[in-house]
Amino acid sequence: MLRKLLIAAALLVAAPYALAADAEPCSVEIEGNDQMQFNLETIEISKACQEFTITLKHTGQLAENVMGHNVVITATEDMDDVNREGMQAGLDSDYVKPDDPRVIAHTEIIGGGETTSVTFDPSKLQDDVPYSFFCSFPGHAAMMSGTVTRVP
Ligand code: CO
Repeated sequence: MLRKLLIAAALLVAAPYALAADAEPCSVEIEGNDQMQFNLETIEISKACQEFTITLKHTGQLAENVMGHNVVITATEDMDDVNREGMQAGLDSDYVKPDDPRVIAHTEIIGGGETTSVTFDPSKLQDDVPYSFFCSFPGHAAMMSGTVTRVP
């Protein structure tokens, strides 16, 4: 009897947290600044999300051709190649090779004071593959990168 009561009490305590997890937004806001930094090291994407939106806010003042930022998601092992080929694609292509199948999602390049976003289908992320996000503006990825992890 006591055991059942304890279990019932535990469920009552846990329920609001379960609801909060369900209501977790399928989106994240990430900031880039004039010091070539993102404010996040990890983007967590819930497996419950049908779609996921990344909003990028450039909190600096420098122009996109000087201190441009975007967010590109690829498998971690593809990051260097996608980054290099993106550099060759140029600013007009947001430093992302057009129609690159290795790119899970990317925003446009923005400059200081601007905000942009991208929405994509997280089912494109495979469970056993490590993914990263980075800025593909030339020279930025070394400082502006992090991991993308899938969470329940
Ligand atoms: Co950048």
